[in-house]
Amino acid sequence: MASSDRSLNNQARFNQVAWSYYSPALSFFEVFGERLIESLGVSIGESVIDLGCGTGALTLAAATRVGGTGRAVGIDISAGMLEVAARRSREAGHDWTTYHESDIVDLEFDEEFDYGVCGFVTQWFDNLTTVPRALVKHVRPNGKIGISVWGRGSWEPHRTVFAEVLSHIRPDLIPKPGNINRLEKPGVLVDRG
Ligand SMILES: C[S@@+](CC[C@H](N)C(=O)[O-])C[C@H]1O[C@@H](n2cnc3c(N)ncnc32)[C@H](O)[C@@H]1O
Repeated sequence: MASSDRSLNNQARFNQVAWSYYSPALSFFEVFGERLIESLGVSIGESVIDLGCGTGALTLAAATRVGGTGRAVGIDISAGMLEVAARRSREAGHDWTTYHESDIVDLEFDEEFDYGVCGFVTQWFDNLTTVPRALVKHVRPNGKIGISVWGRGSWEPHRTVFAEVLSHIRPDLIPKPGNINRLEKPGVLVDRG
């Protein structure tokens, strides 16, 4: 269930692009996903929840590391993205992986995980504590969370040119991400409420 207009827009947008998302042109998602999972030290038998898992870059990397005695769970608002992720996991033989369609804000899960991860989703929320809060909620005490975010000026000048062109045709389709530069302020993510 989606909780905001922006989430609903994302659902529609990512459903549209899902078929082309897992592609060589976007393979950096795989590289950064693998790197984040590796940097956390995820290992055999552990459990990982991946919020905004998309086509599974982090979920598959986590599943490979935890192996059949562990558990990997991917959550996304887009059924299209989840379909691609689930197909990839099936092809990899990772039957210890499950996927669930949900807005990360609305997610209810009884289980607590060893790790909570989230790759390149923070920009969709105006409140930058939303993703860390959602992760903390699903991770056991002394578990670890890992988040990757876009850097300053990412995708420029592509992003600006693209938005300029689109603004003349379908301004409604221009994504309006939150201000990710605010992440550079120390302490912005400290409030766990
Ligand atoms: C840029 S993709 C990143 C996918 C993946 N984490 C990766 O690193 O490849 C962003 C993903 O966030 C998902 N998303 C956006 N808003 C969401 C929300 N409120 N709840 C759950 N998923 C969301 C989108 O559907 C999309 O799959």
